[in-house]
Amino acid sequence: ILTSLQKNCATPLPVLRHVADAMAADMRAGLAVDGGSDLKMILSYVNSLPTGNEKGLFYALDLGGTNFRVLRVQLGGKDQRVVDTEFEQVSIPQKLMFGTSEELFDFISSGLASFAKKESGKFQLAHGRKREIGFTFSFPVKQTSIDSGILIKWTKGFAVSGTAGKDVVACLNEAMERQGLDMQVSALVNDTVGTLAGARYWDDDVMVAVILGTGTNACYVERMDAIPKLRSHMSASGRTIINTEWGAFSNGLPLTEFDRDMDVASINPGEQIFEKTISGMYLGEIVRRVLLKMAEAGALFGESVPEKFSTPFILRTPHLCAMQLDNSDDLEAVGSILSDVVGVRSDLCARKIVLEVCDTIVKRGGRLAGAGIVGILQKMEQDSKGIIFGKRTVVAMDGGLYENYPQYRRYLQDAVTELLGSEISKSVIIEHSKDGSGIGAALLAAANSNYAHEF
Ligand code: BG6
Ligand code: GLC
Repeated sequence: ILTSLQKNCATPLPVLRHVADAMAADMRAGLAVDGGSDLKMILSYVNSLPTGNEKGLFYALDLGGTNFRVLRVQLGGKDQRVVDTEFEQVSIPQKLMFGTSEELFDFISSGLASFAKKESGKFQLAHGRKREIGFTFSFPVKQTSIDSGILIKWTKGFAVSGTAGKDVVACLNEAMERQGLDMQVSALVNDTVGTLAGARYWDDDVMVAVILGTGTNACYVERMDAIPKLRSHMSASGRTIINTEWGAFSNGLPLTEFDRDMDVASINPGEQIFEKTISGMYLGEIVRRVLLKMAEAGALFGESVPEKFSTPFILRTPHLCAMQLDNSDDLEAVGSILSDVVGVRSDLCARKIVLEVCDTIVKRGGRLAGAGIVGILQKMEQDSKGIIFGKRTVVAMDGGLYENYPQYRRYLQDAVTELLGSEISKSVIIEHSKDGSGIGAALLAAANSNYAHEF
């Protein structure tokens, strides 16, 4: 089982190259017409990036994959930049992921209300002025303007009823009204777009942002005249940010029976295949499926297979990471995770095999993520020679998987270096931009403030 897994998950250079080329080709097809490829290539309506001149008090709401955050950001303008930030974070209660749209948006707006209440008059706005919010909403939304957009579908295991097809800003406004909150959304952004804006505030060389967390996605700076599907209804000059929604990519990926079975059993079969292969929500579950097959073959943990082992998603990506970090001689941490989480006893030989399975799945994920990044850079370079590879280019990165899984990060970087060669890869900097998306959303709210003329 292990040998055939390793063979089917292998990502030698030609496979990586194919994935990078296919990513670039799918990006072009998605930019040509709506529905032209798996990649939606969504217009963000962010047509100017933060300059550092943004000024005033702004809020951000950040609904990610695991956490919900409320932030307050005080922007000081040119010389002072971000003067102060304060935030509160809670994990999103599991039951809300399967509840109704009203329940989810009430949860968001009540978090905002209790955050705002604690200010007790500390932050005063000019008379008649509403507090403005940048709303980071980490799901695929068809933007209709910078401050409105329709949810295309839920991803990352969310199955909230009654939101798909609706304007998520209108849903939030209705919930804020129910709370009696006098606030308004000035910018609606994907988490990748917020991350790009937040990182760009400090560094002009940021051209791409990637999230590798519960889910995965990437956005990048695109020339308006390189977006054929835009031509009919917008002026084609300047630049904008495109949200690729690359989680839906599926071209030429090395997949196995375990991936296919997990996909069939998921709440969104046939969708988000790249996300299901490389992101944090799924790596642990793929490994569990492989180990279960080994256990059922009587090959790994003795004769009986505990019931726990059959529970989907019981083994999580942080468990894989903790096991891979175990460098004790008897792999004690691996043994206790196996016994605590899936209820099996293991000898040293079994523990070593478990580590090989983890490594195979994590290596494939990290290397494919690296190939995806190179695909985006390649597309940008092909369109404007020297703009990307001839100078320092920064990829801003966020998400729990990238942040907390050193081995995954190494595999990702290795793939980027292999694909670009050691010279070019020195000028491509992958930089962790922690929690940048909240501040990015506040900056975009400032840039699109209804009161901008008053500054
Ligand atoms: C955060 C962003 O920093 O990273 C979120 O602000 C985003 O909006 C996230 O979704 C990824 O988080 P996670 O929980 O999926 O690792
Ligand atoms: C999922 C969402 C996408 C988001 C990503 C990372 O793929 O569809 O919008 O950016 O997760 O959080």
